[in-house]
Amino acid sequence: MEVTEILEKYSEKVQQEINTALSTVEPEELQESSLHLVKAGGKMIRPSLAILSAEAVGGQAQHALKVAAAVELIHTFSLIHDDIMDQDEKRRGQPSVHMIWGESMAILAGDTLFSKAFETVLWTETDGVDSQLVVGALQTVVDSCVKICEGQALDMGFADRLAVSEEEYLHMIYKKTAALIAAATRSGAILGGGSKEQVEALTEYGKLIGLAFQIQDDYLDVISDEDNLGKPVGSDIAEGKRTLLVVHTLEAANPEDREELIRILREESDQNVPRAIEIFEEYGSIDYAHDIARDNVKQAKELLLTLEDTPARQALMMLADFVLERSH
Ligand code: IPE
Ligand code: IPE
Ligand code: MG
Ligand code: MG
Ligand code: MG
Repeated sequence: MEVTEILEKYSEKVQQEINTALSTVEPEELQESSLHLVKAGGKMIRPSLAILSAEAVGGQAQHALKVAAAVELIHTFSLIHDDIMDQDEKRRGQPSVHMIWGESMAILAGDTLFSKAFETVLWTETDGVDSQLVVGALQTVVDSCVKICEGQALDMGFADRLAVSEEEYLHMIYKKTAALIAAATRSGAILGGGSKEQVEALTEYGKLIGLAFQIQDDYLDVISDEDNLGKPVGSDIAEGKRTLLVVHTLEAANPEDREELIRILREESDQNVPRAIEIFEEYGSIDYAHDIARDNVKQAKELLLTLEDTPARQALMMLADFVLERSH
């Protein structure tokens, strides 16, 4: 099986759940702005992870379908608000929501997706899932939303600071990105009726690939191109973000290069991205970040070995590798 097949397998059903959830939203402007990024379509990694996690513990895909839609709704909400915060004009190859409808409507569109996510989780009971398990999934999703906000607040705060330690960076990306990915695998495992051990293993797997996912995202922001990525490149540098590349370089660099990188980060422009990349390369920071991401993926795959060998486990193995192989 190819990764694209894995990602596409349930994406239509997940999209249907999302469309159903948003079909009653009014006025029209709010519905359209809420649906904008849904229509543009993302990679759908998080819903796939939720469904595969349910299957990997011996459960039914259908039981995790609504939570899969919910995590995609939450992810999409976070992207809309993130683009306002990061002042990014493009997302999924389209103008960002706030570029078309303005910031106020974009905030509301995000809030709508966010609220609909919880309603969607609650609908899981109509699939015949025990309400106890639904509450467990709901708790998991709620907890990850608080973490996203905490992580985004840390991310913003770090940009105003000089140095950020690697530990602080990892804590921040765990919250802003890995927590939702871990919530996808955890809630899927819960709704699939997994044992405590299985649920914990899949939660940890989600966290580890989630950390790798954000490190790869930081890397793609400097080396990819806008057409391929569907969002601006060099945005992290323009916004002065403390990515792992920056964190490592600021720790390793001589005072002169350190000063130059800090100056580039303070410029609020992406014109010196090529120079920043040169400095990153000089200190081996790109390889360093890759090694950390690779190590997280390796550990994540080892955790999967505690589960029975099934096609779902195989697919989860492939998705772990995909996190680092992806170019967008
Ligand atoms: C982008 O996530 C935001 C991050 C957490 C890094 P994705 O790369 O999964 O975005 P889509 O859903 O495919 O657009
Ligand atoms: C993503 O971080 C975190 C979210 C919670 C959306 P980024 O700001 O790096 O995501 P992109 O690069 O804009 O997709
Ligand atoms: Mg962003
Ligand atoms: Mg951001
Ligand atoms: Mg990014």
